[in-house]
Amino acid sequence: MKELIKTVQYPIYFHEQGYAELQKRLSELQGIYSNLFILADTRTYTLCLPRLIESIPVLQKARMLCIKTGEKEKNIENCLYIWRQLSQWRADRNSLMINLGGGVITDIGGFAASVFKRGISFINIPTTLLAMVDASIGGKTGIDLDHLKNEIGLFRYPEMVIIDEHYLKSLPERELKSGMAEIFKHGLIADKKLWQKMGKQPASRATSWNESIRTSNMIKSHVVSKDPYEKNGLRKILNFGHTIGHGIESHFLSTQAPLLHGEAIALGMVCEAWLSWKINGLPKSQYEEIAQRLLGIYPLKEIDESTSDKIVMHLHHDKKNFKGKIRFALLSKIGACTYDHEISIDLIRESFNTVLNKTHRD
Ligand SMILES: NC(=O)c1ccc[n+]([C@@H]2O[C@H](COP(=O)([O-])OP(=O)(O)OC[C@H]3O[C@@H](n4cnc5c(N)ncnc54)[C@H](O)[C@@H]3O)[C@@H](O)[C@H]2O)c1
Repeated sequence: MKELIKTVQYPIYFHEQGYAELQKRLSELQGIYSNLFILADTRTYTLCLPRLIESIPVLQKARMLCIKTGEKEKNIENCLYIWRQLSQWRADRNSLMINLGGGVITDIGGFAASVFKRGISFINIPTTLLAMVDASIGGKTGIDLDHLKNEIGLFRYPEMVIIDEHYLKSLPERELKSGMAEIFKHGLIADKKLWQKMGKQPASRATSWNESIRTSNMIKSHVVSKDPYEKNGLRKILNFGHTIGHGIESHFLSTQAPLLHGEAIALGMVCEAWLSWKINGLPKSQYEEIAQRLLGIYPLKEIDESTSDKIVMHLHHDKKNFKGKIRFALLSKIGACTYDHEISIDLIRESFNTVLNKTHRD
């Protein structure tokens, strides 16, 4: 079994090999890392830190930074907390920060580390399925600005990523499903076999996720290597489902019933698959297959006319927009995706009405 994926910028290690590599680095490079910090949230502090320390006992000496859990914590106040603590502990530029948690921790931790003293090193140890297959790899770091997702951030690559499937044993099923959405996406944009295989994979902790995680990582790493800073365009395909999905996620973030990231992206993927059928040649039968699978797994949020106005407002902040036009990555078939499709607001609304608005659907 391959225990290492070499991406252009950094290695992704699996299981014990990852811990062995980090252990080696910490002892060999003792003179190089002046300080060690671990960032966790209150849940990963309790559920995941003991395994990490057991695997690398020297990390007992690391100073702990801990924030509350949840998307709302991916904010500037928590960055200030992290920076103030690092300053108080006299962290210098040769410090190392280990981000132990889901996508919220790897996003905010990567961002906070990247700008502290113009950048200290960080390592990601993802503990949710979503972070293992997506958030912890690819170099995007950032925080939300009020209800705008990932509005502030930068590209910066971790020194390494360590993936240990064992952490998934304590992950709630709803969170597992959220992570599956990003694996579905990788299948839809680049690998029909992965999409088909995932159709048989139950959302259960008893499932072995190893192969799907690796395949997903290979797909994402390959796309990122062709366009590391989303400049020449190819990387935009990773945003399939995310233009509308982020709008949905941002909208529900301010309500009593926020959606998990993957849940919002799944609904976004169904709307964008519908748009793909309308304007990008995705066969209707494939749109129906995607809608049937995703709407069977993820809870449908009813979106009425006034909610759809609010979601459309969020789309105007999408980072792929150009000269005020909203741009999409769309499927041409299951396993292939193209990008920079400009779509009118009317057609976007029609996708909400068809997919998400019960009154229109019935
Ligand atoms: N940077 C990127 O490229 C990228 C890509 C996709 C998503 N993201 C971001 O990732 C975030 C979502 O990530 P997420 O779904 O991992 O959310 P999360 O970090 O909020 O984790 C979800 C929940 O699971 C808990 N948890 C984490 N590990 C656990 C474990 N092993 N056992 C039990 N509970 C555990 C957390 O405490 C939290 O309550 C969003 O902010 C999204 O924007 C970033």
